[in-house]
Amino acid sequence: MSPVSTSAQDTAADFLFRCISCGHLSDSAGQDFRCADCSDLLEITYPAWTSASRDARNLKSTWAQRLLSRSATDLSGVWRFRELLPAVEDEQRIVTLREGNTPLYALPQCARITGVPCLFAKHQGMNPTGSFKDTGMTVAATFAGRAGFQWVACASTGNTSASMAAYAARGGLRSLVLVPEGKISWSKLSQALDYGAITCQLRTDFDGCLRLLQELVKRAPVYQLNSINPFRLEGQKTVALELLEQLDWHVPDHIIVPGGNLGNSSAIGKALLEMRDLGLIAHLPRLSVIQAEGANALVRTIREKSGKTLVSMQPETRATAIRIGNPASWKKAVHVLEATGGACEQVSELEIAQAKAEIGAEGIGCEPASAVTLAGLKKLLKQGFVKPEDTVVLLLTGNLLKDPDFTIDFHRGDMFKGDAGESGALKALRHPPIVLDATLDAVMRTLEKAQ
Ligand code: F0G
Repeated sequence: MSPVSTSAQDTAADFLFRCISCGHLSDSAGQDFRCADCSDLLEITYPAWTSASRDARNLKSTWAQRLLSRSATDLSGVWRFRELLPAVEDEQRIVTLREGNTPLYALPQCARITGVPCLFAKHQGMNPTGSFKDTGMTVAATFAGRAGFQWVACASTGNTSASMAAYAARGGLRSLVLVPEGKISWSKLSQALDYGAITCQLRTDFDGCLRLLQELVKRAPVYQLNSINPFRLEGQKTVALELLEQLDWHVPDHIIVPGGNLGNSSAIGKALLEMRDLGLIAHLPRLSVIQAEGANALVRTIREKSGKTLVSMQPETRATAIRIGNPASWKKAVHVLEATGGACEQVSELEIAQAKAEIGAEGIGCEPASAVTLAGLKKLLKQGFVKPEDTVVLLLTGNLLKDPDFTIDFHRGDMFKGDAGESGALKALRHPPIVLDATLDAVMRTLEKAQ
């Protein structure tokens, strides 16, 4: 394996890497995607963008027209918005599984529960591998191939590994997955296995896996596909574009996202700021980040250190996707929270389980990490930060089928056994399976009881 570097220089690239701390600009990045001067994270910037070259009205109509196209690039809900992505000279090299194109659902029952009539869910769990990661992976896998890498790798709580393995397979790349042993759902891991990844279960947590990956990429020509990789975040920006288009470019008052490693909130915030700067939207929605109480590094960083230094922690939550104690993109997230005037909140395990079942009762399944958004909304309403008349969009990041154990344990009543805090409302949401004799009578009686 010979070393390769990720460069904006080799072809007529339209972007540069910019350090988020010192602002240093460069046309190439090392495999750790950190600033050569101060070691902080890099982001992608587009020096040639002007409101003339990116005219808002033209962009909106180009993107709408592409909805009628049958080209593979236009059928991707990410590349349809390619004017706001790093340019790819040869569209044949784009690695796509028709990601994006995810539905925006009204949530009438959750609207009644919360007292917010204009409540929507953007369901990113409807992506090809079942999570929002696909929107970033299509861009990052494309640029991995373009830079000549043969291997890609990631640390993961599950979804990144599934997504990376799928896109690597599509793009003819080999993939290496580092996951914490025993701490991620088998449903997610099974995807990586099927897509041909070399899967290593390490005896550590997610943060330990990520630390090891950082060392590995310094030693081997392996392209890292965690959200430290700024190409990932460029792809993940497009959820905000697609959402605003689905809302006919009417800006919602609030967008609420779960926070783990904090790449997603950073990406969505970047998209909102770029959209505002290009005149695609007249003002910014507030972007709020919700974490699990047991994995609340960003909440503590903001409350205890005013967002200036990271408070890292030993994470513990059943929402395994966001079981992260040392979020890599915390500075980017603090920036977007400040820029959009968003809030950062935490929710308990009980609140997550209840919110997940309430979303499920709408016929919309999501994974526990996604349900923190509804639980967080309830808190933000109580605090008066969100008003009942506001339009609110919850970002559901992963599919219900990603973590069936959580759902089954909840409905069978195995999750909070003997927990005094479990309310009647929570119990009423449970629908455990019922074992019966195979008689019509038994089924009829069950049906009558349920009326
Ligand atoms: N929701 C889901 C379903 C996730 O899988 C993740 C992260 C998040 C929310 C949090 O997003 O890290 O950008 O703040 N999953 C990672 C993984 C880290 O490895 O799959 P974030």
